[in-house]
Amino acid sequence: MGSYQRCNVGEKMSCEEFFQYLWQGYTSLTPQAEKIHKLFIEDGNDIVNDHVAFRTFNLPPISISCLEPGLIALGYQAYQSYTFKEKKLKAWSYNHESMLQPRLFFSELLVEELSSNAQQIIHQLVDDIPLPPKGSAAFHAGRLWPSLSWKNYQSLSQESEYAAWVAVMGLCANHFTISVNELKNDSMDYVLGKLASININMNKQGGVLKGTPDSMLVQCATLADECEVCFSGGEKHRIPSCYYEFAKRYKDVNGQVYQGFVPANANTIFHSTDLQSKK
Ligand code: NI
Repeated sequence: MGSYQRCNVGEKMSCEEFFQYLWQGYTSLTPQAEKIHKLFIEDGNDIVNDHVAFRTFNLPPISISCLEPGLIALGYQAYQSYTFKEKKLKAWSYNHESMLQPRLFFSELLVEELSSNAQQIIHQLVDDIPLPPKGSAAFHAGRLWPSLSWKNYQSLSQESEYAAWVAVMGLCANHFTISVNELKNDSMDYVLGKLASININMNKQGGVLKGTPDSMLVQCATLADECEVCFSGGEKHRIPSCYYEFAKRYKDVNGQVYQGFVPANANTIFHSTDLQSKK
C-alpha cells in the first residue's frame, strides 16, 4: 500500500483539498475508479458525488466521536444515525452546510460485540497508535498501525469482513458514489449498461439494484478491486480494497429530495468488500 501524502494538521483544509486527498488515496487503491470515472466523463457527463463513505472502529482515538470534529471543521453537520445490528455497526451521515458538497457516510464497528479473540486483535492495533490523527487529515491517514498477520486477518474476516477491511486499510475513503440524478441520462439502466460495457463486476447481494423509488433511494455498487498487501512476516496476499457506488434519490411526500440513507440498502452494499464476494 502506498503511503498517503499527509498535510499539515495545523492548517485548515478546504473541502476541495479534502476530497482531492481522498480521491488520490482512493484511486491508488482502486484502479476501477478512474476507469469508471473516465467512462462517464467521456459520455458527456459532469460527475457529481452523492456521498463518500468511511469505516472505522469505535475505539479512541479513531472512533466516530473522536474524528467527528474533523468533519465539523469542514462545514459538515451530523444529519442522521443508523444501526446495523447483525453487522455490529453504527453509522452517521453528514451533510455540508452549503449542501454543495457530497454527503458523508461514516460507520464504525462496535468492537465490544465481537469475540474476545477478535477484540484482542483489534485492540492490539488501535491501542498503540503512535501518532493519533487530528482534524480532517485523519480521514486519509491510511493504516495507523503496523501490519497484522495473515492469520489474524483471516480470523477477523471470518467473524467480520468489515473488521478485516479496516484492520488493513485504516482510515481512507471506502467508496465514492456518483449521483445518478446529475447524469445526462438519470436512469440506472444507463449506468448498468455503461458498467457492463467495460465488464465491471457488480455487487449482487439481494439483487444488483438496492432499494426502490418508494424508499426514495436506489443504489448499486461494484465489487471492490483487489490490492496486494504485505502482512507481518512478509507474507503477501491480494485482498479487497475499495469500490464505486451509484445513487439515485427521489423526492419525499413534501417534494424534497431525500437526504438520508436506507439501512436495508447499505446492509447489502457493505458486502462489496467481502473476501468471498467474487465466488
Ligand atoms: Ni455508499
